[in-house]
Amino acid sequence: MEILESIDAASWVGPFSPEIVGKSADALETGKLLYAPQLPFELSTSERRFLSPDCLDGKSKNVSFRPSTSVLKGTRYEGVDRDELLGMLRRYYNQTSALLKGLCPGYDGHLTPGFTSFRPAQIAGRSTSWRHDDTRLHVDAFPSRPLQGLRILRVFTNVNPQTPRNWRVGEQFEQAAAHFLPEIKPPRAGMASILSWLHITKGRRTPYDHFMLGIHDRMKADEAYQSKVPQTHLAIAPGTTWACYTDSVSHAAMSGQFAFEQTFYLPVTAMKDQQRSPLRVLERLVGRKLA
Ligand code: SIN
Ligand code: FE
Repeated sequence: MEILESIDAASWVGPFSPEIVGKSADALETGKLLYAPQLPFELSTSERRFLSPDCLDGKSKNVSFRPSTSVLKGTRYEGVDRDELLGMLRRYYNQTSALLKGLCPGYDGHLTPGFTSFRPAQIAGRSTSWRHDDTRLHVDAFPSRPLQGLRILRVFTNVNPQTPRNWRVGEQFEQAAAHFLPEIKPPRAGMASILSWLHITKGRRTPYDHFMLGIHDRMKADEAYQSKVPQTHLAIAPGTTWACYTDSVSHAAMSGQFAFEQTFYLPVTAMKDQQRSPLRVLERLVGRKLA
């Protein structure tokens, strides 16, 4: 299968051609990266000064903005610098929202924004534990943020003036799930209540979240799988934009610096075909309801 579905969208705001609209949601839902090679995120001359890890607070690897509250985190900047940085992230949120509304009209009204993130640090050479190491193939799943079946749809733009962002993309979700599920024990009775009660999780960790975390962890920890699974290396060019469901596309970010990313959540019922969601795939494999 071709992993990239290229579209000739040259603007963040639709309307887009019927050909583009006709294939966008299907490309995403079948595990492809929807790729817009002519869609840069333009920075003003003044904003270009933010292309430096200097804006980070020393603890965070990203600057993050929450559109629902307008809170900005991860930067040491104050005053006008902070306001301008926030404005840049808010604009990325607005443009990616418009883009998905135009490309996937069926999702309109069902997408909830997560964080907007600006990633000014170089990926390669960063030292982290294997569990946090995104240079290992993984599907996205978060220990403290149970999604209870919600999809994770992410839009990325490489704003590096020169160098590509290098990704690896692994096998289809169904294959990865079938590979790792037999190793994952079912959740322990009562554990979800304890985690939620201790505020370790924001909300209840469903069996779906348990299996997704299990796949995330086992995939990252398995060195042989990382090197042997059929995979595609992508050098994603500067000035281009891509979107994918990162809860089902096995991905690893190997190197690159200066990117934006916007997360959206979508209920499986808003998909064109919810049978393609990790929730429904896992439910078929396990043989019971998981969320
Ligand atoms: C990730 O989602 O694993 C990281 C992607 C990136 O920053 O390019
Ligand atoms: Fe990821």
